[in-house]
Amino acid sequence: TFVVTDNCVKCKYTDCVAVCPVDAFFEGPNFLAIDPALCIDCALCVPECPAEAIFQDTQLTEEQQPYLAINAELCQQWPNITEVIAPPEDADSWNGVPDKLPLLER
Ligand code: SF4
Ligand code: F3S
Repeated sequence: TFVVTDNCVKCKYTDCVAVCPVDAFFEGPNFLAIDPALCIDCALCVPECPAEAIFQDTQLTEEQQPYLAINAELCQQWPNITEVIAPPEDADSWNGVPDKLPLLER
């Protein structure tokens, strides 16, 4: 499965959702999660993300590792999202800021 990781937090550009053939994205307040039960590993979403936040589960760094469980958990609680929406106004200022996990809103 592919996993949304740290740099999505507070960036939430949503470009990723437009290309997913199986509508595997779910929307929280400031982060998206991929449902691992839906993802077919097509990798189409990876180059779409301006924050380069999407990685294959086998390629996660140690810092990104917690996001495997976070995606699996939060996709169950959040609504599906299939259309691109406007990002937060300050999204660009958060792009590249490290260690945003404490800022992830549930
Ligand atoms: Fe959707 Fe493909 Fe990305 Fe999985 S890898 S979330 S199926 S676009
Ligand atoms: Fe997040 Fe990138 Fe999608 S910032 S919402 S994974 S386009």
